[in-house]
Amino acid sequence: MRLSLLFPVLSPSLLVLSQTLSSYISTEQPIAKTNLLANIGAAGVKAPGAKPGIVVASPSTVNPNYYYFWLRDGSLVFKYIVDEYVSGRDTSLLSHINDFVAAQTILQGVDNPSGTAAAGTNLGEPKYYVNETAFLDSWGRPQRDGPALRITALTTYANSLLAANNKTFVTNSLWPIILKDANYVSSFWNQSTFDLWEEIQSSSFFTTAVQHRSLREAITLANAIGQTSQVSAWTTQANNILCFLQSYWNPSAGYITANTGGGRSGIDANTVLASIHTFDPNAGCDATTFQPCSDKALSNLKVYVDSFRSVYSLNSGVAESSAVSTGRYKEDVYQGGNPWYLTTLAVSEQLHLALKTWSTAGSLTITSTSLPFFQIFSSSVTAGTYSSTSSTYTTLTSAISTYADGFISIVQKYTPSNGGLAEQFDKSSGVPVSAVDLTWSYASALTAFNARAGLLSNSWGAKGLSVSGTCQSNAGPTVSVTFNVQATTSFGENIFITGSDPALSSWNPSSAIALSAANYPTWSVTVKLPASAGIQYKYIRKETDGSIVWESDPNMQITTPASGSVTENDTWR
Ligand code: NOJ
Ligand code: NOJ
Repeated sequence: MRLSLLFPVLSPSLLVLSQTLSSYISTEQPIAKTNLLANIGAAGVKAPGAKPGIVVASPSTVNPNYYYFWLRDGSLVFKYIVDEYVSGRDTSLLSHINDFVAAQTILQGVDNPSGTAAAGTNLGEPKYYVNETAFLDSWGRPQRDGPALRITALTTYANSLLAANNKTFVTNSLWPIILKDANYVSSFWNQSTFDLWEEIQSSSFFTTAVQHRSLREAITLANAIGQTSQVSAWTTQANNILCFLQSYWNPSAGYITANTGGGRSGIDANTVLASIHTFDPNAGCDATTFQPCSDKALSNLKVYVDSFRSVYSLNSGVAESSAVSTGRYKEDVYQGGNPWYLTTLAVSEQLHLALKTWSTAGSLTITSTSLPFFQIFSSSVTAGTYSSTSSTYTTLTSAISTYADGFISIVQKYTPSNGGLAEQFDKSSGVPVSAVDLTWSYASALTAFNARAGLLSNSWGAKGLSVSGTCQSNAGPTVSVTFNVQATTSFGENIFITGSDPALSSWNPSSAIALSAANYPTWSVTVKLPASAGIQYKYIRKETDGSIVWESDPNMQITTPASGSVTENDTWR
């Protein structure tokens, strides 16, 4: 054993010096939980002024000021709390959960710079003051992961209430929140969002993945309580989201591209967090939903971890088979661009979830996609399925378990003696940096410890999902657009429309859409087009001999509304 493993913490305290990983976890677990709860209003000792159930991201009020409720952080924190409650591990958390429910009902009614409660567009707002009022300064908004993460926390609670025959509370208090959020996800998943790091506006893997999960959960709950009016629309969109999710995979480089925009490599903790927060204990190593032990998620993990080996001096000289500290993405400069506790812990969590899944399955499978990951631990290993009775399985899983623990050992090494977890630790010295007592850091430690102990969250129905052969190219919300054109024609001539959207035949005149002459000389047709989209089109005239006459240039252009229907009145040019 290397000396650094025997003496992982350079601290004046002899007690800490001799700590093993398991004694660190047993010391840190209650500290993390106490500190997590201390950041939740109204009773939390580090959350003065926060309303009941409001999670303060961090008690830090300057550089950075995190004294806000972020819907992402708060929902992830409450997912942990709900899991502790529904598993029976801590029933004392119920009052916090009910506070959270009441607070979310209030926040969903707050108009804010992302939109209005009446339109439901306010739900994309990322953060609020801790007194439940709108944050009005400029910010990266909207962030469309928040409503999805809130659905996941609340449906987990709802399912446990249903199992205990408390349908009334679910229908009256939880369903109204979930319904709004699910309609938001269903309507807006295909529109651009700021990513979870609040920097890049495009499509983002984490957001898409948690949106997909959340709609499946909302559909299951809707069916269970007989509130089925939206089920078919949500199912269509969930299938479309799952289809779109596949497009983030970069097959030649073996990783999941975090954002469709942003101009970076796209190697990002976004994708690791997505895998652990969409883990389903019944889904095995399914790659369609990027389960932690899927070949794609493992290949991605290796690319992600290795991207930090040369950027932090803390990591220098560490062998490829050993853990290193990791951050959001290697190009990061925020607060110095350091490793983060929650991202380093997420790596351990993904690996422990993978180990648990293989152990349940009684085997592990290596594909050509995951081979580079497994070769970290055995250079001679080849693709194939290895039963848990084989020596290859034993060799690999014990090495992976050591590697997985290594990420927690790094966090142990850079945890100060009071057990506090900030946002980051310095890339050269390892001292805590940025927001102190980050609530999300504590939640990430607690869920990573649970995964290591084999304490798993409930299934959300990922098993057996598949992607339809062709993905709808524009599957987001649509609006009805009626095209009227005044056109005089001679007998046998007909008017058609074609344009830039698939619903307008993508400029292919032979499949152009026919207009009706019922109100001649006004020709008319109504088509569904993507909402809030810029679309170009032209009318065409098909002659009796089959030849085509196009309207003159330039193309016509419309911008469709966000919802509802619209009529375009044109005259043939
Ligand atoms: C604050 C955000 O919270 C953080 O994620 C981001 O990196 C910085 N702003 C810089 O844009
Ligand atoms: C900045 C992080 O980038 C973002 O993900 C988080 O929501 C806020 N800080 C609050 O913790």
